[in-house]
Amino acid sequence: MPAFNAIPPTPDRFDQLVAEPNDYAIGQPAEKQIKTDAFLEHPPIEAQIEWVVDCLIGDATPNEAIDVSTKSQFSEFDMATSALAVNGWCVVSNFLSRSETEALSTECMAMHDAQLLTPARVGANHAATLLRGDSTHWFQPDALSARQQVFADRIEALRNRLNRELFLGLVDSESHYAVYPPGAGYARHLDCLRDSDSRVISAVFYLNEAWQDAEGGALRLYLADQTYHDVFPRAGTLLLFLSAEFEHEVLPATRRRMSIACWMKQRA
Ligand code: OGA
Ligand code: MN
Repeated sequence: MPAFNAIPPTPDRFDQLVAEPNDYAIGQPAEKQIKTDAFLEHPPIEAQIEWVVDCLIGDATPNEAIDVSTKSQFSEFDMATSALAVNGWCVVSNFLSRSETEALSTECMAMHDAQLLTPARVGANHAATLLRGDSTHWFQPDALSARQQVFADRIEALRNRLNRELFLGLVDSESHYAVYPPGAGYARHLDCLRDSDSRVISAVFYLNEAWQDAEGGALRLYLADQTYHDVFPRAGTLLLFLSAEFEHEVLPATRRRMSIACWMKQRA
């Protein structure tokens, strides 16, 4: 049963599906519906009930990442889908296995060292490295390496899940490796301009083994209640958020910082 079965919304009505974070506490009909569906389909075990209830009734800043590697009575990505529907963002851990993540990290590092990444610039202004100091390599959909294919397949599974549960109409995705040298960041920005971009969901997957918080490099996600949530770029972590809703920035780190930035898109 789809989570939102009252009025099948169209992609451009997406705002109606995801309440403003300030509205969470008052319990929107859509949230009640998700809650009902989640409980009917997947009678959860005790410990999970508490967490899911917290999440669904509007803990707007769930500090715990959702571990998608553990076998539970929820089907894969259910909790992440619900959290995304309620809060507009969520953090997933173990999106890929350790060895799959390491393989991507090794490839990204090797490509960077072979100078196959291109300095990213914002707009036409070449002096803009102050705004954005990373270098990127776009994945070529027709020529993915085996390890990129593993990532792409997992993203596809998530994209299909989000479409099925939230009617997002996500038709495609695009991804790039990004490497930030020590000291580089990305100033506060929005991933798409409202009404003029096909990007709906931003997904950032991190590739940095044994990252220590003291090394910096958090993605700072600005929330609607004027607070923020820092996500550290630990290997295996995937951050998901609504591209048009959440401003964010990358804080500089003392160590090289690698990620895959991905956008799930609706028809333009
Ligand atoms: C981006 C971005 C965040 C990150 O590429 O638009 O915000 O953590 N990346 O790499
Ligand atoms: Mn961004």
